[in-house]
Amino acid sequence: MEFNFVLVHNLKQNVESKGTKSIYWYVRIKDKYKGLCLPILAISFTLNVNTMSLRLGDIAPDFTAETTEGKINFHEWIGDKWAILFSHPADYTPVCTTELGAVAKYKPEFDKRNVKVIAVSVDPLDSHQGWVKDINETQNCNVNYPIIADPDRKVAELYDLIHPNANDKFTVRSVFIIGPDKKIKLTITYPASTGRNFDEILRVIDSLQLTANYSVATPANWKDGEDVVVAPAIKTEDIPGRFPKGFKEIKPYLRLTPQPNK
Ligand code: BEZ
Repeated sequence: MEFNFVLVHNLKQNVESKGTKSIYWYVRIKDKYKGLCLPILAISFTLNVNTMSLRLGDIAPDFTAETTEGKINFHEWIGDKWAILFSHPADYTPVCTTELGAVAKYKPEFDKRNVKVIAVSVDPLDSHQGWVKDINETQNCNVNYPIIADPDRKVAELYDLIHPNANDKFTVRSVFIIGPDKKIKLTITYPASTGRNFDEILRVIDSLQLTANYSVATPANWKDGEDVVVAPAIKTEDIPGRFPKGFKEIKPYLRLTPQPNK
């Protein structure tokens, strides 16, 4: 009797996706005459594929997806505006219902700031469509922005929205603020049990848009209209020419000036 050894491997999940994966190797004896493969040994080990999170300054990954407002290409949809991509764990859940209602009511504030908003979860389109009726009814609103249907988790993978040690099925509550240059300007991730504060998201947009145009930074708890910090790169003797509204030098490295665009 003659034997051939055949090495077979079986990937539990696609190893190109992120996270810890298992690969099983089987050594089988192939019976030359009967053509049967008999498993005699299974070696299993875990391959830890490093999770490369998206970082500030990275280009927001582009994708094509179905949404409640039709198929979109993400970068084309952003166009020359700012964008907020926010994920929620699942449709027909209480906190998410309040969040999506809140965003609908904040839409005029986002519009004023030239910001488009889009939601995403791993639920399919028909689920989103049914749930939107509930959101409108219970939150007294009109969901006026698209929700991405991501049942195959394409967007969830691109944006690292499944955190298996928190929950291996649902997307986390993440927020990405993306500039007109398609670069990521802010990321925040909240646990499923904590609804987001959209006033904070607006506050950050105000800061991002201000600091994109002026050599300033915004201090702790800053709100639109309050004094701002002169960027450390500006020499104190150059401040009067750059900031004609005046400035206060609290320390050589801490100089405040009225918000320049107000
Ligand atoms: C919610 O949106 O209410 C929720 C979703 C997932 C887990 C916990 C709460």
